[in-house]
Amino acid sequence: MALWVYTINIFLAAFATALILIKRRFSYWKRREIPHDEPHFPGGNIDCSSNTSKSVQRNYNKFKTTGPFGGFFINLHRAVVLYDLDLIKDVLVKDFHNFPERGLFHNEKDDPLSANLFRLDETKWKQLRSQLSPSFSGIKMKDMFLTILSIGQKLVQALDDVIDVENSTVEMNEIIGRYVTDVNGNCVFGLDCNSLNDKNADFFRTIKSISGTKLHSKIVNSLISSFPKLAQKLRMRETHEDLNDFFIRIVRETIEYREKNSVKHNDFLSLMIELKNIDGGLSIEQMSGQTFAYFSAGFENSTAAIVVTLYELALNQDVQDKLRDEITNRMEKFRQKLSFDCMMEMRYLKKVVKESLRKHPVVPYLLRLAKNDYQTSHPKYVIPSQTLIIIPIEAIQNDPDVYPEPDHFDPERFRSEEIHQRNIAAWLPFGVGPRHCIGLRFAKMQIYVALILLISSYRFYTTCDCDRTANPLPVDGKKSSGQIYLRVERI
Ligand code: HEM
Repeated sequence: MALWVYTINIFLAAFATALILIKRRFSYWKRREIPHDEPHFPGGNIDCSSNTSKSVQRNYNKFKTTGPFGGFFINLHRAVVLYDLDLIKDVLVKDFHNFPERGLFHNEKDDPLSANLFRLDETKWKQLRSQLSPSFSGIKMKDMFLTILSIGQKLVQALDDVIDVENSTVEMNEIIGRYVTDVNGNCVFGLDCNSLNDKNADFFRTIKSISGTKLHSKIVNSLISSFPKLAQKLRMRETHEDLNDFFIRIVRETIEYREKNSVKHNDFLSLMIELKNIDGGLSIEQMSGQTFAYFSAGFENSTAAIVVTLYELALNQDVQDKLRDEITNRMEKFRQKLSFDCMMEMRYLKKVVKESLRKHPVVPYLLRLAKNDYQTSHPKYVIPSQTLIIIPIEAIQNDPDVYPEPDHFDPERFRSEEIHQRNIAAWLPFGVGPRHCIGLRFAKMQIYVALILLISSYRFYTTCDCDRTANPLPVDGKKSSGQIYLRVERI
């Protein structure tokens, strides 16, 4: 047989085998009679035209009454979408030992930024989490308050300048993104990024441009996420080399400068440097991975949380007035001096932020990976080992059976009596259990400071008259990537 015929035959046989294997993989939930939508190659249950959060939401709405979970595929990876709040609580808290990982790609050797707390496997994660947790303690947060406050004051000034130029209609993601960059730069690295004074400041521009650049095509990314362990063995990487070099350079230069000049700073990097100097401490690459995780989580999530809250306050003027009254009252009590304690006394503010993260959780779903088979209380429903667990927080938090009239913005849903009546799994913007958001306190502090300063200086309105404020917001899982315009007036 000619060589080319032989090659074609082998190719066809390999192709047919791959098709059979994929078909068999995709029939998994059907064989077990678990409700699901038919998956298709290559996205599984994720539509090519849509995104994961929309597809998860559709699955939840269609199957939530059928049992404790439904079948799903993220690309080729078998997954379940959980519907039952008690089961969610068990997975995240009581039986966490069976779900300690998220099953995400990381490669410490070739892609050091990917080896961060968010992605690491159980053993490494456990050690790192206990080393890093003290830097997020209540006392450390109190120490950072004044730094955040001074950046918040620059935000007010920067908004003032923007209003003059842009005739009071302002795209909020841009300016809040600059505030969050400056807060993170200062509190993570002790760097004055200066994004609020200078739109084109190096740090903000570099992070924005590099993080927007995709390293691989959609199909390669989907293969990496479907087979993270294999991708690791093949020495693949997900992070752009420039981003890698940028973070490692900043961390290395900052450490060298501090060690040479005996500089002490009140930031997250300082605590990591202390760990570096003791046995079993962190390498430069490991520190870069963690600072990168803080930065990416902080930038996207905190920016979106502040912007969606301002958006809801613009739509709900009565809530905005009530919040402003509370701020004025507390400030009077504390003689016009905004302190950490003054901020912590603003109970309505906390309810407002909780309600806006209820309607718009900036992270639309949580992920876990089952270590071993897991029997739920329903005999037919077993979660097999190595299945991805999707916890659909955006869908749950907007489900009328969990929150009546979910589109209605009502901070009073978070009165303590109401909170106690609900399952803890009904509100999960920061997750829950041992792997919940480590930056929760820090994130809340930057959100509160921004809101207090902005609401006491400005009044926010929608711009419905010129159709630039979308209502409702699109469900896209990335609120900070859209453009949200508000009309802003000085008080
Ligand atoms: C409003 C802002 C934020 C929101 C809504 C948010 C939300 C989340 C969520 C939902 C998770 C996953 C929790 C789970 O799986 O149970 C998470 C994990 C994480 N977040 Fe945040 N986050 C925010 C800000 C931050 C900030 C500012 C930092 C860092 C300074 C941060 C660092 C992390 C890290 C490192 C993890 C992984 C924790 C682990 O696996 O141990 N987050 N965050």
